[in-house]
Amino acid sequence: MIKLIPEREIKKRVQELAEEISRDYKDREPVLIGVLKGSWVFFADLVRKLKIPVICHFIRLASYGKKTVSSRKVRLQNDQKESLRGKDVIIVEDIVDTGLSLKYLLSYLKKQKPKSIAICVLLDKEARREVAIELKYVGLKVPNKFIVGYGIDFAERFRQLPYIGYIEEDEGVS
Ligand code: IMP
Ligand code: MG
Repeated sequence: MIKLIPEREIKKRVQELAEEISRDYKDREPVLIGVLKGSWVFFADLVRKLKIPVICHFIRLASYGKKTVSSRKVRLQNDQKESLRGKDVIIVEDIVDTGLSLKYLLSYLKKQKPKSIAICVLLDKEARREVAIELKYVGLKVPNKFIVGYGIDFAERFRQLPYIGYIEEDEGVS
């Protein structure tokens, strides 16, 4: 595992994103939808820096399994019962790669007729994008590597790291 982004840099960007969101959504109460599991650490740090009230929800999306390449099939689990109709929604995601997961999630959420939907991602792996997705808030750009740490996993490992790194192709988990 090779270190890429130190803890203090993540902290600084999360603080800046929180300030931007607090400004943009002043006098509103957006519904933040965290995409599990990867966004859990980012979500927890972000909400605690916000200066506006928010409603917190989580949705589970899975596509990778135990591989470093997307299976291209997205599965979604949603326990949330209340409708998003008329609400300002902010999706909080860990990393965008092909963009397929977010595209799928957006079309799923739009059916509930929210007033607005914005996307906030911590990491953008731009080189791999296959579908155009409008990202309103982006923390940091990352190279085309398999990223781990700060909530992001490889086969459920590395989520606990306080910094962000990447693993090499042949660096399997023994
Ligand atoms: P996409 O659908 O290809 O954009 O992939 C997005 C999802 O795949 C993210 O929500 C992540 O959970 C996962 N993912 C994408 N790239 C990485 C990576 O480099 N490391 C770990 N998970 C990743
Ligand atoms: Mg994810």
